[in-house]
Amino acid sequence: MTISADTIAPRAIARDLTDTIGSTPLIALGNYAAARGLSARILGKAEFTNPVGSVKDRIAWGIIRDAEEQGLLQRGDLIVDITSGNTGIALAAIAASRGYRTKFYLGDNTSPDKRRILEALGAELVTIPNSFFLDPDALEKLFAQAEAENEGAFIANQLGNPANPRTHYETTGPEIWRDTDGEIDVLVAGVGTGGTVSGAGRFLKEKKPGLRVVIAEPGDASVPTEEDEYPDEIDGVHKVLDIEEERLPPNYDTSIADEVLQVEAADAYATARALLREDGLFVGPSAGATVWVATRLAERPELADATIVAILPDTGERYLSAGVFFPKA
Ligand SMILES: Cc1ncc(COP(=O)(O)O)c(C=O)c1O
Repeated sequence: MTISADTIAPRAIARDLTDTIGSTPLIALGNYAAARGLSARILGKAEFTNPVGSVKDRIAWGIIRDAEEQGLLQRGDLIVDITSGNTGIALAAIAASRGYRTKFYLGDNTSPDKRRILEALGAELVTIPNSFFLDPDALEKLFAQAEAENEGAFIANQLGNPANPRTHYETTGPEIWRDTDGEIDVLVAGVGTGGTVSGAGRFLKEKKPGLRVVIAEPGDASVPTEEDEYPDEIDGVHKVLDIEEERLPPNYDTSIADEVLQVEAADAYATARALLREDGLFVGPSAGATVWVATRLAERPELADATIVAILPDTGERYLSAGVFFPKA
Protein backbone atom coordinates (compact mmCIF):
# COMPACT_ATOMS: atom_id res chain seq x y z
CA MET A 1 0.00 0.00 0.00
CA THR A 2 1.30 3.42 -0.90
CA ILE A 3 0.69 6.24 1.49
CA SER A 4 0.48 9.61 -0.17
CA ALA A 5 -1.16 12.96 0.42
CA ASP A 6 -4.10 11.72 -1.70
CA THR A 7 -4.83 8.71 0.52
CA ILE A 8 -4.76 10.61 3.81
CA ALA A 9 -8.29 11.46 4.92
CA PRO A 10 -8.69 15.19 5.54
CA ARG A 11 -9.21 16.33 9.11
CA ALA A 12 -10.45 19.74 10.13
CA ILE A 13 -8.05 21.91 12.13
CA ALA A 14 -9.01 21.69 15.80
CA ARG A 15 -10.03 25.03 17.31
CA ASP A 16 -8.62 23.87 20.63
CA LEU A 17 -7.97 20.76 22.70
CA THR A 18 -11.66 19.98 23.19
CA ASP A 19 -12.22 19.51 19.45
CA THR A 20 -9.94 16.46 19.56
CA ILE A 21 -11.80 14.57 22.30
CA GLY A 22 -13.63 11.35 21.40
CA SER A 23 -14.00 9.40 18.15
CA THR A 24 -11.46 6.96 19.57
CA PRO A 25 -10.66 3.84 17.54
CA LEU A 26 -11.71 0.27 18.20
CA ILE A 27 -8.57 -1.85 18.03
CA ALA A 28 -8.67 -5.62 17.51
CA LEU A 29 -6.63 -7.40 20.19
CA GLY A 30 -5.44 -9.80 17.49
CA ASN A 31 -2.18 -11.21 18.85
CA TYR A 32 -3.55 -11.36 22.39
CA ALA A 33 -6.64 -13.34 21.29
CA ALA A 34 -4.67 -15.64 18.96
CA ALA A 35 -2.11 -16.48 21.64
CA ARG A 36 -4.96 -17.67 23.87
CA GLY A 37 -6.72 -19.64 21.12
CA LEU A 38 -9.79 -17.39 21.23
CA SER A 39 -12.04 -17.29 18.19
CA ALA A 40 -14.28 -14.52 19.53
CA ARG A 41 -13.41 -11.02 18.34
CA ILE A 42 -12.18 -8.87 21.24
CA LEU A 43 -12.04 -5.17 20.39
CA GLY A 44 -10.52 -2.55 22.67
CA LYS A 45 -12.17 0.90 22.72
CA ALA A 46 -8.95 2.89 22.84
CA GLU A 47 -9.84 5.69 25.24
CA PHE A 48 -6.14 6.24 25.94
CA THR A 49 -5.98 7.94 22.53
CA ASN A 50 -8.00 10.87 23.85
CA PRO A 51 -5.83 14.04 23.90
CA VAL A 52 -5.28 14.08 27.65
CA GLY A 53 -4.96 10.29 27.82
CA SER A 54 -8.18 8.87 29.23
CA VAL A 55 -11.91 8.27 28.89
CA LYS A 56 -12.36 11.11 31.37
CA ASP A 57 -11.52 13.69 28.69
CA ARG A 58 -15.04 13.08 27.40
CA ILE A 59 -16.89 13.73 30.64
CA ALA A 60 -14.63 16.56 31.79
CA TRP A 61 -15.52 18.39 28.59
CA GLY A 62 -19.18 17.33 28.85
CA ILE A 63 -19.39 18.70 32.41
CA ILE A 64 -17.52 21.95 31.65
CA ARG A 65 -19.47 22.58 28.44
CA ASP A 66 -22.75 21.98 30.27
CA ALA A 67 -21.73 24.38 33.06
CA GLU A 68 -20.67 27.02 30.52
CA GLU A 69 -23.99 26.69 28.71
CA GLN A 70 -25.81 27.19 32.00
CA GLY A 71 -23.70 30.26 32.78
CA LEU A 72 -22.13 28.58 35.83
CA LEU A 73 -18.50 29.16 34.83
CA GLN A 74 -16.64 32.41 34.14
CA ARG A 75 -12.94 32.82 33.33
CA GLY A 76 -10.86 32.60 36.52
CA ASP A 77 -13.43 30.43 38.34
CA LEU A 78 -12.38 27.45 40.43
CA ILE A 79 -13.45 23.91 39.46
CA VAL A 80 -13.41 21.35 42.31
CA ASP A 81 -13.95 17.58 42.35
CA ILE A 82 -13.19 14.30 44.10
CA THR A 83 -11.16 12.17 41.70
CA SER A 84 -8.90 9.15 41.49
CA GLY A 85 -6.78 11.17 39.08
CA ASN A 86 -7.97 10.90 35.50
CA THR A 87 -10.98 13.20 35.83
CA GLY A 88 -8.78 15.74 37.59
CA ILE A 89 -6.16 15.54 34.85
CA ALA A 90 -8.79 15.98 32.13
CA LEU A 91 -10.55 18.83 33.98
CA ALA A 92 -7.23 20.56 34.66
CA ALA A 93 -6.11 20.39 31.02
CA ILE A 94 -9.43 21.68 29.68
CA ALA A 95 -9.47 24.31 32.45
CA ALA A 96 -6.00 25.43 31.33
CA SER A 97 -7.22 25.91 27.79
CA ARG A 98 -10.34 27.82 28.91
CA GLY A 99 -8.98 29.96 31.74
CA TYR A 100 -10.26 28.20 34.89
CA ARG A 101 -8.44 27.03 38.02
CA THR A 102 -8.76 23.54 39.54
CA LYS A 103 -8.58 21.88 42.94
CA PHE A 104 -8.98 18.17 43.61
CA TYR A 105 -9.49 15.87 46.60
CA LEU A 106 -7.72 12.59 45.97
CA GLY A 107 -6.74 9.50 47.96
CA ASP A 108 -3.14 8.96 49.03
CA ASN A 109 -3.23 5.68 47.05
CA THR A 110 -3.41 7.68 43.79
CA SER A 111 -0.63 6.66 41.42
CA PRO A 112 2.42 8.95 41.90
CA ASP A 113 2.49 9.51 38.14
CA LYS A 114 -1.04 10.94 38.20
CA ARG A 115 -0.14 13.24 41.09
CA ARG A 116 2.86 14.56 39.18
CA ILE A 117 0.74 15.24 36.09
CA LEU A 118 -1.83 17.10 38.21
CA GLU A 119 0.95 19.14 39.80
CA ALA A 120 2.45 19.88 36.38
CA LEU A 121 -0.97 21.13 35.27
CA GLY A 122 -1.05 23.49 38.23
CA ALA A 123 -3.99 21.89 40.05
CA GLU A 124 -4.26 22.38 43.81
CA LEU A 125 -4.37 18.99 45.56
CA VAL A 126 -5.89 17.89 48.86
CA THR A 127 -4.68 14.42 49.85
CA ILE A 128 -7.07 12.12 51.73
CA PRO A 129 -5.77 9.03 53.57
CA ASN A 130 -7.03 5.79 52.05
CA SER A 131 -8.39 4.68 55.44
CA PHE A 132 -10.92 7.54 55.26
CA PHE A 133 -12.65 5.74 52.37
CA LEU A 134 -13.36 2.71 54.59
CA ASP A 135 -16.18 4.79 56.10
CA PRO A 136 -19.32 4.00 54.07
CA ASP A 137 -20.28 7.69 54.23
CA ALA A 138 -16.82 8.84 53.11
CA LEU A 139 -17.85 10.28 49.75
CA GLU A 140 -20.81 12.15 51.19
CA LYS A 141 -18.59 13.63 53.91
CA LEU A 142 -15.86 14.56 51.47
CA PHE A 143 -18.35 16.18 49.17
CA ALA A 144 -19.70 18.28 52.04
CA GLN A 145 -16.13 19.20 53.00
CA ALA A 146 -15.30 20.21 49.42
CA GLU A 147 -18.40 22.40 49.25
CA ALA A 148 -17.70 24.01 52.63
CA GLU A 149 -14.03 24.68 51.83
CA ASN A 150 -14.63 26.17 48.39
CA GLU A 151 -17.50 28.58 48.57
CA GLY A 152 -18.54 29.83 45.15
CA ALA A 153 -16.52 27.16 43.31
CA PHE A 154 -18.07 24.99 40.62
CA ILE A 155 -18.20 21.43 41.95
CA ALA A 156 -17.91 19.21 38.88
CA ASN A 157 -19.40 16.21 40.75
CA GLN A 158 -18.50 13.47 38.28
CA LEU A 159 -20.27 10.96 40.55
CA GLY A 160 -23.66 12.61 40.22
CA ASN A 161 -23.53 15.13 37.38
CA PRO A 162 -25.91 13.87 34.65
CA ALA A 163 -23.61 15.37 31.98
CA ASN A 164 -21.29 12.40 32.70
CA PRO A 165 -23.50 9.46 31.56
CA ARG A 166 -25.15 11.72 28.97
CA THR A 167 -21.76 12.29 27.31
CA HIS A 168 -21.25 8.53 27.02
CA TYR A 169 -24.82 8.08 25.73
CA GLU A 170 -24.17 10.73 23.09
CA THR A 171 -20.63 9.80 22.06
CA THR A 172 -19.04 6.55 23.35
CA GLY A 173 -22.08 4.37 22.66
CA PRO A 174 -22.83 5.74 19.18
CA GLU A 175 -19.14 5.49 18.18
CA ILE A 176 -19.05 1.79 19.13
CA TRP A 177 -22.30 1.17 17.28
CA ARG A 178 -21.05 2.99 14.16
CA ASP A 179 -17.62 1.39 14.09
CA THR A 180 -18.87 -2.19 14.59
CA ASP A 181 -21.74 -1.68 12.11
CA GLY A 182 -23.95 -2.88 14.93
CA GLU A 183 -22.01 -6.16 15.16
CA ILE A 184 -21.46 -6.08 18.90
CA ASP A 185 -22.68 -8.72 21.33
CA VAL A 186 -21.05 -7.77 24.63
CA LEU A 187 -19.79 -4.54 26.21
CA VAL A 188 -17.33 -4.87 29.11
CA ALA A 189 -16.55 -1.90 31.39
CA GLY A 190 -15.57 -1.11 34.95
CA VAL A 191 -17.44 1.25 37.28
CA GLY A 192 -15.80 4.28 38.81
CA THR A 193 -18.64 6.79 38.56
CA GLY A 194 -20.66 4.40 36.39
CA GLY A 195 -20.86 7.01 33.63
CA THR A 196 -19.28 4.91 30.88
CA VAL A 197 -21.22 1.71 31.44
CA SER A 198 -24.53 3.45 32.14
CA GLY A 199 -24.41 5.90 29.21
CA ALA A 200 -22.78 3.76 26.52
CA GLY A 201 -24.57 0.64 27.79
CA ARG A 202 -27.99 2.31 27.62
CA PHE A 203 -27.38 3.58 24.07
CA LEU A 204 -26.22 0.17 22.84
CA LYS A 205 -29.05 -1.73 24.55
CA GLU A 206 -31.61 0.62 22.97
CA LYS A 207 -30.09 -0.22 19.58
CA LYS A 208 -29.78 -3.94 20.27
CA PRO A 209 -31.87 -5.21 23.19
CA GLY A 210 -30.08 -8.60 23.22
CA LEU A 211 -26.67 -7.01 23.82
CA ARG A 212 -25.06 -8.00 27.11
CA VAL A 213 -23.39 -5.49 29.41
CA VAL A 214 -20.78 -7.03 31.70
CA ILE A 215 -19.03 -5.19 34.53
CA ALA A 216 -15.47 -5.96 35.62
CA GLU A 217 -15.33 -5.27 39.36
CA PRO A 218 -12.31 -5.64 41.67
CA GLY A 219 -12.08 -8.89 43.60
CA ASP A 220 -12.00 -8.97 47.41
CA ALA A 221 -8.18 -8.98 47.60
CA SER A 222 -7.99 -5.78 45.54
CA VAL A 223 -9.99 -3.37 47.71
CA PRO A 224 -8.74 -1.68 50.91
CA THR A 225 -9.81 -3.18 54.24
CA GLU A 226 -9.09 -2.37 57.92
CA GLU A 227 -6.35 -5.06 57.81
CA ASP A 228 -4.84 -3.95 54.51
CA GLU A 229 -5.38 -0.28 53.68
CA TYR A 230 -3.03 -0.33 50.70
CA PRO A 231 -3.52 -3.52 48.66
CA ASP A 232 -2.69 -3.55 44.93
CA GLU A 233 -5.77 -1.86 43.48
CA ILE A 234 -7.35 -1.44 40.05
CA ASP A 235 -7.20 2.35 39.88
CA GLY A 236 -10.48 4.03 39.08
CA VAL A 237 -12.89 1.12 39.49
CA HIS A 238 -14.98 -0.03 42.44
CA LYS A 239 -17.20 -2.86 43.56
CA VAL A 240 -20.89 -2.74 42.67
CA LEU A 241 -22.19 -6.12 43.93
CA ASP A 242 -23.34 -6.34 47.55
CA ILE A 243 -23.10 -2.57 47.96
CA GLU A 244 -26.18 -0.80 49.29
CA GLU A 245 -27.85 1.21 46.55
CA GLU A 246 -27.45 4.55 48.37
CA ARG A 247 -23.67 3.95 48.54
CA LEU A 248 -23.34 3.50 44.78
CA PRO A 249 -22.56 6.55 42.61
CA PRO A 250 -25.77 8.28 41.46
CA ASN A 251 -24.45 8.05 37.89
CA TYR A 252 -24.37 4.25 38.02
CA ASP A 253 -27.56 2.75 36.56
CA THR A 254 -28.10 -0.35 38.71
CA SER A 255 -30.30 -1.93 36.02
CA ILE A 256 -27.67 -1.76 33.25
CA ALA A 257 -25.51 -4.86 33.95
CA ASP A 258 -26.42 -8.38 32.87
CA GLU A 259 -23.47 -9.81 34.75
CA VAL A 260 -20.67 -8.72 37.08
CA LEU A 261 -17.37 -10.62 37.12
CA GLN A 262 -14.58 -10.16 39.66
CA VAL A 263 -10.99 -9.62 38.69
CA GLU A 264 -8.05 -9.27 41.04
CA ALA A 265 -5.43 -6.54 40.59
CA ALA A 266 -2.68 -9.11 39.88
CA ASP A 267 -4.65 -10.47 36.89
CA ALA A 268 -5.53 -6.96 35.68
CA TYR A 269 -1.84 -5.91 35.88
CA ALA A 270 -0.69 -9.08 34.08
CA THR A 271 -3.24 -8.47 31.33
CA ALA A 272 -2.11 -4.82 30.95
CA ARG A 273 1.47 -6.10 30.56
CA ALA A 274 0.33 -8.73 28.03
CA LEU A 275 -1.47 -6.10 25.92
CA LEU A 276 1.69 -4.01 25.87
CA ARG A 277 4.05 -6.87 24.98
CA GLU A 278 1.74 -8.68 22.56
CA ASP A 279 -0.22 -5.91 20.80
CA GLY A 280 1.85 -2.84 21.72
CA LEU A 281 -1.06 -1.21 23.54
CA PHE A 282 0.08 0.76 26.56
CA VAL A 283 -2.97 0.74 28.84
CA GLY A 284 -3.67 1.02 32.55
CA PRO A 285 -4.89 -1.64 35.00
CA SER A 286 -8.61 -0.97 34.56
CA ALA A 287 -8.14 -1.81 30.86
CA GLY A 288 -6.33 -4.96 31.99
CA ALA A 289 -9.41 -5.73 34.08
CA THR A 290 -11.93 -5.32 31.25
CA VAL A 291 -9.79 -7.38 28.87
CA TRP A 292 -9.30 -10.11 31.52
CA VAL A 293 -13.09 -10.30 31.88
CA ALA A 294 -13.56 -10.20 28.09
CA THR A 295 -11.16 -13.15 27.88
CA ARG A 296 -13.17 -15.20 30.40
CA LEU A 297 -16.32 -14.44 28.36
CA ALA A 298 -14.61 -15.33 25.06
CA GLU A 299 -13.71 -18.73 26.51
CA ARG A 300 -17.41 -19.60 26.84
CA PRO A 301 -18.56 -21.85 23.98
CA GLU A 302 -21.73 -19.78 23.42
CA LEU A 303 -19.58 -16.67 22.83
CA ALA A 304 -17.04 -18.33 20.52
CA ASP A 305 -18.20 -16.21 17.55
CA ALA A 306 -19.13 -13.11 19.50
CA THR A 307 -17.81 -9.58 19.18
CA ILE A 308 -16.83 -8.31 22.62
CA VAL A 309 -15.92 -4.67 23.13
CA ALA A 310 -13.76 -3.92 26.18
CA ILE A 311 -13.28 -0.31 27.28
CA LEU A 312 -9.57 0.60 27.59
CA PRO A 313 -9.97 3.66 29.87
CA ASP A 314 -6.48 5.12 30.09
CA THR A 315 -2.81 5.08 29.21
CA GLY A 316 -0.33 2.84 31.01
CA GLU A 317 2.09 5.74 31.24
CA ARG A 318 0.08 6.87 34.27
CA TYR A 319 1.16 3.74 36.17
CA LEU A 320 4.91 3.51 35.57
CA SER A 321 5.53 4.02 39.31
CA ALA A 322 2.41 2.18 40.50
CA GLY A 323 3.59 -1.43 40.50
CA VAL A 324 1.77 -2.39 37.28
CA PHE A 325 4.71 -2.72 34.88
CA PHE A 326 7.60 -2.78 37.37
CA PRO A 327 7.75 -3.64 41.06
CA LYS A 328 7.05 -0.62 43.25
CA ALA A 329 10.20 1.29 44.23
C1 LIG B 1 -8.67 4.35 35.06
C2 LIG B 1 -10.17 4.34 35.10
N1 LIG B 1 -10.81 3.28 34.63
C3 LIG B 1 -12.15 3.19 34.64
C4 LIG B 1 -12.92 4.18 35.19
C5 LIG B 1 -14.41 4.01 35.24
O1 LIG B 1 -15.13 4.90 34.46
P1 LIG B 1 -16.52 5.49 34.92
O2 LIG B 1 -16.25 6.58 35.91
O3 LIG B 1 -17.13 6.01 33.67
O4 LIG B 1 -17.33 4.41 35.55
C6 LIG B 1 -12.29 5.31 35.69
C7 LIG B 1 -13.08 6.38 36.31
O5 LIG B 1 -13.06 6.68 37.46
C8 LIG B 1 -10.88 5.39 35.65
O6 LIG B 1 -10.22 6.46 36.14
